[in-house]
Amino acid sequence: MTKGAEYGLKKIEGATSWKQGVAWIPELETGNEEIDSQHKQLFRLTSNLIEACVSGQSEETLGKTLGFLVDYTVEHFRDEEALQLKHNYPDYEKHKKLHDNFKATVGELVAQYKADGSSDKLADVVNTIVVRWLTQHITMEDFKIAAHIRREHKKG
Ligand SMILES: [Fe+2]
Repeated sequence: MTKGAEYGLKKIEGATSWKQGVAWIPELETGNEEIDSQHKQLFRLTSNLIEACVSGQSEETLGKTLGFLVDYTVEHFRDEEALQLKHNYPDYEKHKKLHDNFKATVGELVAQYKADGSSDKLADVVNTIVVRWLTQHITMEDFKIAAHIRREHKKG
């Protein structure tokens, strides 16, 4: 199995390595429209960041691209947590903790990038840490939220 397939990712057309971009695959769909559209945007922003790293963009562009991803991650977690509360999701506290831990990881990643400024390393870290976390979190945790909401709707 290739590295990308292991992460549940699709290689972007024209890319010669997994580092050159990550794409959304339907297997990551939770079935909840709001969650899925935000996850797709997260993947787009992650892919933009990796592309910016490997295509040798200026530090200013990289900083901005990284900022977009960080800001959107925070926004997405906030929306997803609000959705859980709205639907009385029983594992809210646990899920929020996972989000908080990941926000801390991203904070460290940004600090590390600011300290050493290596775009190669940033692309690697984003690929291994961010993409892997997102993929696992979506399939193992976010799927449960979507299933809970579906059950609630059925109960009417
Ligand atoms: Fe989540």
